[in-house]
Amino acid sequence: MVKGFGKVILLGEHAVVYGRPALAAALARGVDARWSSSASPRLRIAPWRVDVGPGGSTELARAFRALLGGDAPAVTVDATVELPAGAGLGCSAALGVAVLRALDEAAGREADDEDVAERSLAWERVFHGNPSGVDSALAAAGGVRVFRRGERLATVSVGARLPLVIGHSGEPGSTKATVAEVARRHAADREGTERTFDAIAALVESGRRAVGDGALPALGRAMNENHAHLRALGVSTDRLDALTDVARQAGALGAKLTGGGGGGCMVALAAGRDRAESIRRALAAEGSDAFLAEVAAGRVA
Ligand code: PMV
Repeated sequence: MVKGFGKVILLGEHAVVYGRPALAAALARGVDARWSSSASPRLRIAPWRVDVGPGGSTELARAFRALLGGDAPAVTVDATVELPAGAGLGCSAALGVAVLRALDEAAGREADDEDVAERSLAWERVFHGNPSGVDSALAAAGGVRVFRRGERLATVSVGARLPLVIGHSGEPGSTKATVAEVARRHAADREGTERTFDAIAALVESGRRAVGDGALPALGRAMNENHAHLRALGVSTDRLDALTDVARQAGALGAKLTGGGGGGCMVALAAGRDRAESIRRALAAEGSDAFLAEVAAGRVA
């Protein structure tokens, strides 16, 4: 069995599309895949009851075709998704990485994480148009990382466990739509949005140091500030704002939307596991499907 990890962006989404760094942690939850020989290539995805070949016109069929390339091996890939889709947790990238790894395994091809992440972008582009690549990089590598477009993924040493709580707003988020919204604002007010991206980049720098030092309150403060910038960029929603407030009132050191926004998930940082559990309960009492996130260890590069 092979795997692609989900991810949670701790700091830096959207600005990362414009060349700024992002700090992200891979989630133990993700997508598992296995392959078996078959008459023709098929992709089956549980629990979605998807069963497609590469010839269809759906996004999944087109994405599968993009990974298969010219000489498609006759295999069926069975993938099991453990993440909500359209939630900002990198579900599509995790799926692309897991499916590509299964195809590589079937073809006897060995590839390192970087190569897998790079080739799986062909899949991700079908769903996201112009992805920065942060989701695919984390889906392949695991761990806590700083990603910057066009640069090697940087490993972040972690000075303390990160008790994270992820809460779903219940609203579907479209990363494509929010990335387009930010692009519209960037075109209308280039200077203002560039300043916001620079401010976010500074938060990523301080957040990275805080993670290394195990300075959770400093990381939490950076998350709160990052949320305010994301609001100003127009990618938050009333519901995400309300859930981040609920998390802070329940004792979170920091809370922000995570991923594309416009719906999807928020993430909160707690000082410890017990506090994380009370934040989860407070979010659940607001009707949010919330869970304690386990960070997936990655290879130390
Ligand atoms: O919504 P997700 O999980 O695909 O995260 C998107 C992160 C963005 O920075 C908003 C887009 C990107 O391509 O990096």
